[in-house]
Order: sequence, then C-alpha cells, then structure tokens
Amino acid sequence: MGGFTGRDVLSIADFSRKDIEVVLKAAKKMVPIARGEKANRTLEGRILSTLFFEPSTRTRLSFESAMKRLGGDVVAFGPIEASSIVKGETLADTIRMVESYSDAIVLRHPQEGAARLAAEFTERPVINAGDGAGQHPTQTLLDLFTIWDQRGGIDGAKIALVGDLRYGRTVHSLTYALCSFDVELTFVAPAGLQMPKEVAEHVRAQGIPLAVTEDLPKVVPNLDVLYITRIQKERFPDPQEYAKVAGTYRIDAEVLRGAKKSLIVLHPLPRVDEIAPEVDATPHARYFEQAFNGVPVRMALLSLIFGGAP
Ligand code: NCD
Repeated sequence: MGGFTGRDVLSIADFSRKDIEVVLKAAKKMVPIARGEKANRTLEGRILSTLFFEPSTRTRLSFESAMKRLGGDVVAFGPIEASSIVKGETLADTIRMVESYSDAIVLRHPQEGAARLAAEFTERPVINAGDGAGQHPTQTLLDLFTIWDQRGGIDGAKIALVGDLRYGRTVHSLTYALCSFDVELTFVAPAGLQMPKEVAEHVRAQGIPLAVTEDLPKVVPNLDVLYITRIQKERFPDPQEYAKVAGTYRIDAEVLRGAKKSLIVLHPLPRVDEIAPEVDATPHARYFEQAFNGVPVRMALLSLIFGGAP
C-alpha cells in the first residue's frame, strides 16, 4: 500500500507486512491516549462520517472514540430508517452527499464489494467496516495488534480460525493478513461453513502450512491462538441450514483443559454461545482487550490516513 495519506482501506490484501507493522507500532503509541491518560488533538477540525447499513456496536463506537480522542469529530448516519435510504436513495448518491460533509467515510454494508464501489464515487478516503461476507480490514488490524501485543510478535504462532469461515468476513481478512507472517494455520469449521476455496488456495500458494478439520478438541493442545467466530445467522439463505450448524463449537473449561498455558482465545464479538462465560475469568480470555484495541488501532489508522505523524 505504501504511503497512507488519503488512502482507501478496502481490503487487507492491499496491506504489505511493512504497512501492517507501521499501523501496529503507531497503535501501541496510541494506547495511553485511547485510555484517556494522555491528551492529543492532532485531528482537530477533521470530520469522519460513519455509515452503517448493518448493525454494529464495537466498530462504530471505537471509530467514534478514536476520532474524538484525537480531537476530531464524527457525523453519524444513525438508523437507516431515519435516513433518505428508506426513500430509495442509492449508495452512490449517499456517498456523493456525505463526501461534502466529512473528510473520510467509514462504511459497513451488507453487500460484498460495497466499499470498493463507494470509493469510486468519492475522492475522500473510504474505510471498509465490513462488506457482507467479504472483508473487515480494520478488525484484522486490531486482531493482529492483539496477537502481536500479547505474544510480542506474530511470527511462529500456531493459529486456528474456528466457526463460520464461510460467511465470516473477519476470518477472511485475517487469513489474508496472516499470510504475510511466518505462521501455521488450522481452519476448523462444520461441513458447509468451510473457508471459501479462493482464500484457502491463497494460503497454500503462499506456502503457509495449513490443516483443515472439523475436530476442535483435537487441535487445541497445539495452539498459540484460538480465534473463534459467531455463526453468521443473517447470511444464511435458509434458517433450517442455520439451525443445523448453530452451537457447533463452544469453548469451555473442558475444551481448554489440554491447552498450552499461554494460549490466547480471541473473538471479534458479539458472541452468542461460542465461548462459555466461565472462560472469561481464565488467563486465556483476551477478547475484551481485543475489543478495546479497536480504539488505538483505529486511532493509528486515522492518523496515518489524515497525514498526521503518530
Ligand atoms: C464482526 C462483524 O461485523 O463482522 N463484528 C465486529 O465488527 N466486531 C463479527 C460478527 O458480527 O460476528
């Protein structure tokens, strides 16, 4: 990707290892500001617009918090029902309007490729906050930050991605990004929810060791990172198909019995029943820190995009 100033963030595949490392190091410096322990106003006068055509808690709020911690401001679209979308306004027209109200645009949309399309209608930087079952690049940056920060690096990690690998956009982006590192991957999914072929082929083409299985307990003892996801109910064309796979994997004390002491369990959240509450109190649980990390990572990214030295 090279220089960051004014760039779109559409796919994590546009980020080289070096780009990722620039963001992670900048994010580390942002932590005290993200916690409110240090003040910083480098984005004063900048306005970010957040357009969420799908539900969001962490992504929207952490973008808002990131912008405000750096002295910037946010205009939010609010519920779709309160916008002109319900009057039939197209995405293209919405983007053309919003570009005159803000300096950068964060977009979450149910359709794959929506962010890329939006970027064609505006000169403003567009940040993909999730496009259907496609990608979620800023989530990946905070996932990588969490692994890097917890382990002191990413290289050498044995990582399993577990759950809905078919419709889960976070695992698609994360897999592409991990291919820039020296890792071993295991995909654990129920039949029908395996990683899309092109993503698995990309992993193999990069020479990354890859195992594919349905058997979670068997792989746990070998892992450094267990990244589990929600089954993406809203993307199933048939509710009966969802019912067949709902609750397939659940991390609890029993599943973690043979795990390495240093194993970290991550989840992009929201969780439904993939992680038993009893796991929250174990040293393995890192998903709430992961959610916090969304703030410093998005602060770093916004600073870089707006051309500020982090
Ligand atoms: C994820 C998403 O929206 O893709 N949530 C998030 O941004 N943390 C994961 C999910 O909804 O399951």
